[in-house]
Amino acid sequence: MNWDFPRPCLPAGRLPLSPWGRGRGEGEEEHMEWGMRNRLAQLIQSDGHCLFLPIDHGYFQGPTRKLEKPGETIRPLLPYCDAIFVTRGVLRSSVDPEKTKPIILRVSGGTSMVGKDLSHEGITTSMEEAIRLNAAAVGISIFVGSEYEHDSLMNLSKLVDEGEKYGIPVMAVTAVGKELEKRDARYLALSCRIAAELGSRIVKTYWCEDFEKVVSGCPVPVVMAGGPKVDTELEVFEFVHHGMQKGAIGVNLGRNVWQNEHPVAMIRALRAVIHENATPKEANEIFEQEKIK
Ligand code: 5RP
Repeated sequence: MNWDFPRPCLPAGRLPLSPWGRGRGEGEEEHMEWGMRNRLAQLIQSDGHCLFLPIDHGYFQGPTRKLEKPGETIRPLLPYCDAIFVTRGVLRSSVDPEKTKPIILRVSGGTSMVGKDLSHEGITTSMEEAIRLNAAAVGISIFVGSEYEHDSLMNLSKLVDEGEKYGIPVMAVTAVGKELEKRDARYLALSCRIAAELGSRIVKTYWCEDFEKVVSGCPVPVVMAGGPKVDTELEVFEFVHHGMQKGAIGVNLGRNVWQNEHPVAMIRALRAVIHENATPKEANEIFEQEKIK
């Protein structure tokens, strides 16, 4: 088949990426319908990489620091991200429909930081609503190993069935709730593989030591979340760069961008790592230059 889309041009050492996979499961592309391909191409850029900006944290954390007014937080950042990850409430109230980026709609929830169990999520938003809001994808958390593992995996499966009907990709989020220590390669590889097996088109997970084990066991593209804000910018550039070298296609990174004192400098430097193959040191230099502008 002849592709109309530009194939990615990759620096040495990178895996052969494409918006539809990492060169594995080739038959898949033949069967992907126009709408699904078009939505994935909106999210994953022609170099095969992506920078998603999540602002969905309030759905269980409430007014997270620096995200109290999401519209104000994202306004200066929008030019530099490829998509935003957001709930329908924040989308409708705080995002200008005429000046935005592709939307990944967070459609799971129903729990809170102060409730009994963060893993007890349901699907909060219908596929009809996602279509009405012109979502490029929908996102849902799964909680492998938790009390509600089965429910969250069945929610994912049902969402994939609905999404495939309308050509809407599903991004699964391998969530760990409050148990941040769960984020090791063995656990994340298990979660990512299960998410892919159940039909997710993209999987969002955490970077970890031995990250290649996570990516190599997952037959669909993997993006990395940041988790709670870390101490230095360089640490962020290092893990993102490392994860990209090991086969991630990009990030879905929130707090380490918009909780930074210089969020625009931060996202511009990250963009250089993701889309221009900048090293962590180069990214840090970009950050230092941009923060004084
Ligand atoms: C929160 C999420 C976030 O989208 C995800 O955790 C990425 O954000 P951060 O980089 O701040 O961890 O799923 O529910």
